[in-house]
Amino acid sequence: MKEIINNIFYCGLNHRERKLFDELIPLPRGTTYNSYLIKASEKTVLVDTMYPQKSDEFLEKLEKAGVDKIDYIVCNHGEQDHSGSLPKLVKKYPEAKILTNPKCKELIQEMLHIKDEKFQVIADGEEISLGDKTLKFIFAPWVHWPDTMFTYVKEDNIIFTCDFLGSHSPFETLFAPETPELLLAAKRYYAEIMMPFRNFCKKYVQMLKNMNIDMILTSHGPIYKNPQFILDAYEKWTADACANEVIIPYVSMYESTKEMVDYMSEKLSEKGIEVKPFNVVEEDLGELAMELVEACTVVFGSSMVLAGPHPAAVTSAYITGILRPKVKFVSFIGSYGWGGVLTEKLEQSLSAIKAEKLTNVIIKGKPKTEDFEKLDVLIEEIYQKHKSLGLI
Ligand code: FEO
Repeated sequence: MKEIINNIFYCGLNHRERKLFDELIPLPRGTTYNSYLIKASEKTVLVDTMYPQKSDEFLEKLEKAGVDKIDYIVCNHGEQDHSGSLPKLVKKYPEAKILTNPKCKELIQEMLHIKDEKFQVIADGEEISLGDKTLKFIFAPWVHWPDTMFTYVKEDNIIFTCDFLGSHSPFETLFAPETPELLLAAKRYYAEIMMPFRNFCKKYVQMLKNMNIDMILTSHGPIYKNPQFILDAYEKWTADACANEVIIPYVSMYESTKEMVDYMSEKLSEKGIEVKPFNVVEEDLGELAMELVEACTVVFGSSMVLAGPHPAAVTSAYITGILRPKVKFVSFIGSYGWGGVLTEKLEQSLSAIKAEKLTNVIIKGKPKTEDFEKLDVLIEEIYQKHKSLGLI
């Protein structure tokens, strides 16, 4: 176990071989499940635990490090990648009490069937003395579950934020390198996990900035020794302002829709707008999520399959709808052969997004002169909208 600061140790594990999170989001570099051990003068505390399938490896790691007694196990969040090893832990360390909030206790009991007597429920703002260190619990619901909370160590001025501000990147160095690669991993993670809760994120970023924290220890990815690095990035991602970008997630069966996408990309670029076409069949959805973080406009492109949109286009619209990016304008383009309704299902998937609907351009077959003219109308509309926001 590596010491991070003043008797606080890293005891988490990498899971490089994990390919998907929630059986949905690709993990190009795997992930980590961070757990921390605090050896204070009077109490030993474990902060967050482990993914169920890694439980045995985790317990072995604790044993090898000579951890023979744990007084408290802090559970900042009940999702099983951080709580899944609790049944084995409370068996091995029978004297340990799980310190958590009422909502987290409820969720853990539903998922893991741990008895009441194993818990010590804490209140928001409550402090617990460990001797030479004091833990303070700060409830932070909805980043990203209703049970989420942070644990602050007063004497060291450091905070454990569990999922919040994390990244799915292997734990190669203890402290986060301030590199573009790490920032991208953190942005992707924000997009996939935190973006639907943008306003809550905004609030907690401000809170952490005001606290002048010395170190942020998340439960995925490396530790931020310079919290400003990640807090500034989150400030930008969660801000209401959007970027002069148009994302075009599309699927094209016989190149007609692709021709429309290429035309729009070229013309919008000429007008000074950054365009990112995104083939939803070939590229991973995590990349799409990441592109949606700052974009002002999304144009979905789809071929018709039977009498409706291509299923891959429906998935991309559905993912966009549930991730609730701050996108301000949305439209649909596409091509059909003999008939059908292309936009209805796609529009339904986006019902949770408060974006303004722009003109749709749905054409028959390969685009003709009049079809490109219709696209010109949409292109001009996007240009004027971006201009009205001061982006051009
Ligand atoms: Fe990393 Fe919400 O679990």
